[in-house]
Amino acid sequence: MQRSFIMIKPDAVQRGLAGEIIKRIENKGFRLLGLKMLQIDEVLAFKHYEEHRGKAFFEELLSFITSGPVIAMVWEGTEAINSMRLLMGSTNPAAAAPGTIRGDLAVSLDKNIIHGSDSPEAARREIALFFKEEEILDYNRSLDKWI
Ligand code: RTP
Ligand code: MG
Repeated sequence: MQRSFIMIKPDAVQRGLAGEIIKRIENKGFRLLGLKMLQIDEVLAFKHYEEHRGKAFFEELLSFITSGPVIAMVWEGTEAINSMRLLMGSTNPAAAAPGTIRGDLAVSLDKNIIHGSDSPEAARREIALFFKEEEILDYNRSLDKWI
């Protein structure tokens, strides 16, 4: 079992794609442990995308991710980190495979609708950045037998 930090980006919230994206992740069999809608400020954006500091697209990235509300989530499941990246599709939606979230729902590299952690270290760091311990609800699993 792994946890991944997944974020529905401002473009997808504005386009009304949040339900569709959440549905795809639920259908795959992952469990939602935490969810909040927020508008990211400069400080949080900087921390979240720290690894890209200095790159040509960094300023644009910060400006986009702070441009409107996002939906931040923690999902859990078997190999959640890699599996979720496959479900999302390649970073550039124009090259993402049909059937993936980006491949089916987006075309722009700058506005690629979803973020997902790319390693266990990143997942731990990103979850801690967006969620307090008590906001992650590791609830009763007695219904698992139904899926
Ligand atoms: P994300 O972090 O947003 O989930 O996306 P990712 O892992 O698939 O891609 P990453 O390499 O972490 O890049 C973060 C975001 O920066 C934008 N980007 N622009 N112009 C460019 O060459 C370029 N490369 C990356 C993308 O919007 C990407 O999601
Ligand atoms: Mg990334």
